[in-house]
Amino acid sequence: MEAGQRSVLVTGCSSGIGRATALLLRQHRYRVFATVRRTEDIAALAGTGLESLSLDLSSSDSIRAAVAEILDKTQGCIHGIVNNGAYGQPGAVEDLTRDALREQFETNVFGTQELTNRIIPAFRAQGSGRIVQISSLLGVVCLAYRGAYSASKFALEALSDTLRLELRGTNIHVCLVEPGPISSRFRENAYQAYLRHIDRAHSVHRDYYARVEARLGGTKSLPFTLAPEAVADKVVHALGARRPKIRYPVTVPTRFLAAARRLLPGRALDLLAAAIGSSGQR
Ligand SMILES: NC(=O)c1ccc[n+]([C@@H]2O[C@H](COP(=O)([O-])OP(=O)(O)OC[C@H]3O[C@@H](n4cnc5c(N)ncnc54)[C@H](OP(=O)(O)O)[C@@H]3O)[C@@H](O)[C@H]2O)c1
Repeated sequence: MEAGQRSVLVTGCSSGIGRATALLLRQHRYRVFATVRRTEDIAALAGTGLESLSLDLSSSDSIRAAVAEILDKTQGCIHGIVNNGAYGQPGAVEDLTRDALREQFETNVFGTQELTNRIIPAFRAQGSGRIVQISSLLGVVCLAYRGAYSASKFALEALSDTLRLELRGTNIHVCLVEPGPISSRFRENAYQAYLRHIDRAHSVHRDYYARVEARLGGTKSLPFTLAPEAVADKVVHALGARRPKIRYPVTVPTRFLAAARRLLPGRALDLLAAAIGSSGQR
C-alpha cells in the first residue's frame, strides 16, 4: 500500500457500474476492495490492480467476514464505502410473492444497511468517512411493473437521508447517486429475477409480460443510456470532494423526472409515469 493511500470498499464489482467504479477509483490511486459474490469473478478481477474478495449481500456471515478481512488489512482505516451491488425484480405489484419481495429487500436494502452499519464504527473511530449509495431514477419516481425494485431504492433513499441527519457533525458524509439507464448486465439479471419469481401464465398482466420479455430479453438500449463510467465519475466526486453533494442525478431521464416530481401535481405525474412505464418498451 502506498503512503497516504485511501481505501474504499465497493460492492457488486463483477460487472457494470461496480466494475467501472472500482477501476476508475484505482486510476485515482485509491486502494480498492472490489467485492463480488462468485469465486470465478474474484479470479476475473485478478491482474486489474484491485483487491478482490467475496461479499454476498444476502448473507450476514459473508458481510461479517468481508468487513473483518478489510478492516484487518487496513488496520481499521477505511475512507469510504460504495454500496452498489443490487438487482431489479420486475413484475406487477399484485404478482409479487412474499419471497420475491423478501429477496429483493435482502440484497438491496437489508444487506446493504447491515454492511454500512458494520463500517460506521470504523468511520466514527477515525473521525471521517464517505458512504456512497447507488440508488436509481426508480428511487425518485415510480414506474409501473417495477414496484419491488422501486420500493427497495425508495427504502435506500429514506435510510440514507435519515442516516445523514443522524451523522450531522461527524464528518461522515452520505451521498446518493441516482442513475437512469446505464449499459450493464442489469437488464439480463432483472430478466432472470423475473423468470424466477413471476407466474406469467396465470397473471392478468400476461399481455404486458409478453412485451416485456422482448425488451428484457433483447439487447436494444433505452434512449439516453450512458456508459457506467458516467456513474463512476460521480462516485469519484462523492468520495474525493471536500464538500460532496447529497444527490448526484445521472442521465437526462433522472434529471427530467426528478424535476417533474417536484413540479407536477400528483395526477399529472401519474400520467407522465404511465406514458413512460407501461408500454413494455422501457
Ligand atoms: N443499469 C442501470 O440502468 C441502473 C440504473 C439505475 C441504478 N442502477 C443501480 O446500479 C447498481 C449497479 O447495477 P449495474 O447496472 O451495474 O448492474 P449489473 O451489471 O447487474 O451489476 C450488479 C452487481 O450487483 C451484484 N449483486 C447482485 N446481487 C448481489 C448480492 N446479493 N450480493 C452482492 N452483490 C450482488 C451483481 O453480482 P452478480 O454478477 O454476482 O449477480 C453485480 O456485480 C445497482 O445498485 C443498480 O440498482 C443501475
